[in-house]
Amino acid sequence: MKKYLVIGNPIEHSLSPQLHNHWIKANKIDAVYEKKKINQNEIKDLICDVKDKKISGINVTVPFKQEVITYLDELTDQAQKTQSVNTIYLGTNGVVGHNTDVDGFKSSLKDEYDPKNKNILILGAGGVVPSIIFALKNMKAQSITISNRTREKAENLKKKFENIKIVDWGQIPNFDMIINATSVGLNAEDEINLDFSKTNNKFFYDVIYNPTETNFLKAGKKFGNKIINGKLMFIYQAYYAFEIWHKLLPKVDEEVLKLLEND
Ligand code: ATR
Repeated sequence: MKKYLVIGNPIEHSLSPQLHNHWIKANKIDAVYEKKKINQNEIKDLICDVKDKKISGINVTVPFKQEVITYLDELTDQAQKTQSVNTIYLGTNGVVGHNTDVDGFKSSLKDEYDPKNKNILILGAGGVVPSIIFALKNMKAQSITISNRTREKAENLKKKFENIKIVDWGQIPNFDMIINATSVGLNAEDEINLDFSKTNNKFFYDVIYNPTETNFLKAGKKFGNKIINGKLMFIYQAYYAFEIWHKLLPKVDEEVLKLLEND
């Protein structure tokens, strides 16, 4: 039986096992997907296990998406450019690190919104933001502006990606699409304390999907904007990892969407 893992710290709340084991069963694959809380000093051995075919694939989550890179033999373009790895597999020349958050974000917008020629405002500059920027650039967004509480972190992103604009936290320039990529909202009572009363007919995206509707999305909705949470992004990053490991595309249907209903 093939073994797959998601590693991180904390890991208790990860819904990846539910999703992957559902698809493994639906496709009658002889495999199991487990979660493992690890410390940084365990990464090296786990990657050796991939090389030795003891583990067939690993998903990586917070806070190790960057840390794993030093132990890998090869990075895909997406992983290289974002310096973020969430999917590990054995390739022909060694252990490969890939980043399916990029395509996960893209696919989450598929039936919802086309960022081409649009002005995008991203709130936050944490781990997931390089993947979102990379995807938006690929989708030919007109402009990408970052607003982060700690401006220096936004400045660091500007070094990695060309033509990024930065505004101070609290400033809301005109935008077509706004993305909450901060951790504000993970607790249902969290308030982002930005004024959206002058927005209307825009697109509000929250990377958070639990709670289903953060106060950021509630405010977006209240002022007549279209809203979407991060559930599809989460599902699609898993979908592309599944495709790499099992060489087939799993179904994203109502049953899968229900699996992640947890509040
Ligand atoms: P990391 O920064 O370790 O990658 P993350 O969860 O990916 O962690 O990112 C958290 C993001 O939420 C950061 O952009 C953070 O802003 P700082 O860079 O200033 O820390 C943002 N964030 C967290 N709490 C916030 C708050 N109360 N107000 C505004 N932004 C906040």
